[in-house]
Amino acid sequence: MSIYFDNAATSSPKPDCVVEAVRDALTRTNANPGRSGHAAALAAARVVLKARESLAALINAPDAMGVIHCFNCTDALNLAIKGSLRAGDHVVATELEHNSVLRVLAELARRGRIEWTLVPPSPDGFVDPAGMRAAMTPKTSLLICTHASNVTGAIQPVAAVGRIARETGVRYLIDGAQALGALPVDVQALGCDLYAFPGHKSLLGPQGTGGLAIRPGTALNTLREGGTGSASDSMLQPSELPERYESGTVNLPGIAGLAAGCDYVAGRLSRIMMHERELTDLLYRELSRISGVALYTPAEESARTGIVCFNVGDLSSAQVADALARRDIAVRGGLHCAPGAHRFLGTLRRGAVRASVGHANTFEEAETLVRAVRELADGKRA
Ligand code: ALA
Repeated sequence: MSIYFDNAATSSPKPDCVVEAVRDALTRTNANPGRSGHAAALAAARVVLKARESLAALINAPDAMGVIHCFNCTDALNLAIKGSLRAGDHVVATELEHNSVLRVLAELARRGRIEWTLVPPSPDGFVDPAGMRAAMTPKTSLLICTHASNVTGAIQPVAAVGRIARETGVRYLIDGAQALGALPVDVQALGCDLYAFPGHKSLLGPQGTGGLAIRPGTALNTLREGGTGSASDSMLQPSELPERYESGTVNLPGIAGLAAGCDYVAGRLSRIMMHERELTDLLYRELSRISGVALYTPAEESARTGIVCFNVGDLSSAQVADALARRDIAVRGGLHCAPGAHRFLGTLRRGAVRASVGHANTFEEAETLVRAVRELADGKRA
C-alpha cells in the first residue's frame, strides 16, 4: 500500500466530508453564486459565504468580507504583492521565500518598477526580525515573510516582524502556505495586513482553492477586472469587498470542499497538531540516528511544522526520492521552488528530500520510511 509523505505539496487523503461537499456543490447547489436569484444560485452563494465565514473565524479575521477566494496561494500572493506596490517602491522579504514571492518580485524588479532586498536567515534557519528592520529604506512599502519554510519547516518569527510593521507603518504580508491548518493563526495577533494561504494543503480542501485575508482598510489595486454580479451598470470595478477581487465565476466545488476541510480542521486542530508533531518527532529522532543522514529541519519540536528535510550520504535528493517512490513511499526531492532556502542550506546543487506528514499518516508509515532510509544509507556505505 502506498505511503504518502508529501503533504506540504498537497494534503492527501482528503476527509470524506470534503469529497461529499464537492459532490454536493456539483449536484445539489450547482448554480452560479452571486449572479441569479433562484434557489440553487442562492444556495451556491450561501456555500461561498459560509466558506468565507469559516476561514475568517479560523484566522480571527475581523471581517469575513475581507477574506478573498483565490485560485491558490500563488494567486493570493500575486494579488497581495502586485496590488500593493507602486513604481519606485522597495520591498524587504526573506531568502526563505517560495518562488511564488521571489519570482513576482523579480519580475517587478526586471521591469524597473521596484527594488527589493532579501534578508538571509541566521545560521539557525530563522530570520532575525532586526535584520529585516535594518534592510528597510525610506522607500520600503512592503515587508514579506513566510510563516514557515516549505523546505525546512522552520516556523519564522512572524509576530515579531509584525511588530516592526506596526511600528513603522509599513504594510506586511505573510505567506501562510505551510502554516494555515497546521498551526493556530490569528491574523490580528500577528499584526499583518495581508495573509495569503492555500486551500489544498493543511486546510485539506481541493486544489484550485486558496485565499487572501485583507485587514480592513488595506487598499489593493485589482489584478483582474470583470463581472461580479453587482453594480453591473458601472464600467468600473466595484470597490466593495469581496467582489472587488473576485471577478468571474468562482470555483464553487472547490470552495465548498474548502469550507468542509476548514471546518474539519477547526474542530480538531490541537489533535491534528499533536499527531503531526509526534510523527515529525519520530521521523526526526530516528533519521538523526542513521549514519550518513544530514537533517536540515530545526531540532526544537515547537519550532517546526510537520516537515523533515534531509539528504542521504552523497546521493542526490532525486536518487533518494526515486528509490523511496520505488518502495511506494511518496516524498518530494529537489528544490521545492525555494532556491534561497537551498542556497542557505548548501543544497542548491543536489536538492534535499522532504518528508511532510499529514493528519492521516500513521506511526507504522513513519517507521517504514525510516527503515527505507536506513537501507538506502546502509547500501550507500556498503
Ligand atoms: N509549494 C508546494 C511545495 O512546497 C507545492 O511543495
